[in-house]
Amino acid sequence: MKRLLCLLLAGAAPVFAQKFEGLALTPPMGWNSWNTFASHINETVVKETADAMVANGMRDAGYQYIVIDDCWALKDRDANDQLVPDPAKFPGGLKALGDYLHARGFKFGMYSCAGSKTCGGYPGSMGHEYQDARQFAAWGVDYLKYDWCNVGTRDAREAYTTMRDAIHAAGRPMVFSICEWGTAKPWEWAADVGHLWRTTGDILDCYDCKQRWAQGWKVILDLQHSLVSPAFGPDDSIGKYAGPGHWNDPDMLEVGNAGLTLPEARAHFSMWCMLAAPLIAGNDVRHMTPEIRAILTDRDVIGIDQDPLGREGWRYRAEPGREIWVRQLAGGAWAVALLNTGAAAADLALDLPSMWLFDGKFAVRDVWAKKDVGTNAQILTAHLASHDVALLRLTPVKN
Ligand code: GLA
Repeated sequence: MKRLLCLLLAGAAPVFAQKFEGLALTPPMGWNSWNTFASHINETVVKETADAMVANGMRDAGYQYIVIDDCWALKDRDANDQLVPDPAKFPGGLKALGDYLHARGFKFGMYSCAGSKTCGGYPGSMGHEYQDARQFAAWGVDYLKYDWCNVGTRDAREAYTTMRDAIHAAGRPMVFSICEWGTAKPWEWAADVGHLWRTTGDILDCYDCKQRWAQGWKVILDLQHSLVSPAFGPDDSIGKYAGPGHWNDPDMLEVGNAGLTLPEARAHFSMWCMLAAPLIAGNDVRHMTPEIRAILTDRDVIGIDQDPLGREGWRYRAEPGREIWVRQLAGGAWAVALLNTGAAAADLALDLPSMWLFDGKFAVRDVWAKKDVGTNAQILTAHLASHDVALLRLTPVKN
């Protein structure tokens, strides 16, 4: 009996030691309720979203996690201090909803907060971390987004490490998504705490509008630059923060939401793929145009995001009306994005021969157009609408 107990304990140890590594070797992909539904989330929306993602090809394109964001709970814990899903929104309960998602090949994501209350004023997990992690595990949760409102003087590293340890103790592998908006520089300490961490405030569905805590995708893109790029070229500091298992998260996608033109949606998606960002759709995928669906499910573009090397792209050049971003890919390949930052359509040149990064000969493919367009010995031009992008993949040619 003693021997059996020892064997059981010895067998249990690696579960805690592995820290759920290997869960996010490429940036997580999925859907989250917040950007479109905010507090108007419910069981029907989640089920219809899952069904739509099966029918429209999103699941098979890699969108795996379906995440319920804030405002899912009752405003008070129950007599045992447990979190309770609002029965008006989730009458079947969350275990059954998780089962529904799992039966369709998805993974189940939930939301809580390191403070006394969530940002929406629902109960937070401060002081209840181990209890809540066990509850999430019992519901079959595979992904936890953990927010940062109502935290008082709490230290971010302590708070997120406590919840990480609680998840490990609960024993169910979960992707842990740190959402403290970059305030405490999680890129410097969170690689072994979470699998992804927000770098910036909330995204809005606009190109470059700004509010106090939220901004359009181009403003967020500009803020990523200092995280991903040193002053000179691809040295060891590129990708020093993010990589397989731990990702910078510039926030969820606004692709398909009303405030972006189609070129802006395409460029937003392209640039998130250049950044190796998590691809968490935030639109109503039950009702989207064929053009938006084509953007969200483009395998070649997603292939850049999910490149196994896991290196982030960086801004190679910025000048009035034009930016060039580059990303190193596996097998010696590169992705290059040419962005029209001007207010009008323009013919933009991309002088590939002058780009010192490309050592040798490369075949160049226009990823959105699905066309081979020459080699890196040529200067390419693209006619781009305002805020549109040309996305290229450069593949080394063996002589
Ligand atoms: C914060 C987060 C958002 C969302 C809301 C929910 O603002 O950054 O992504 O989760 O809270 O209240």
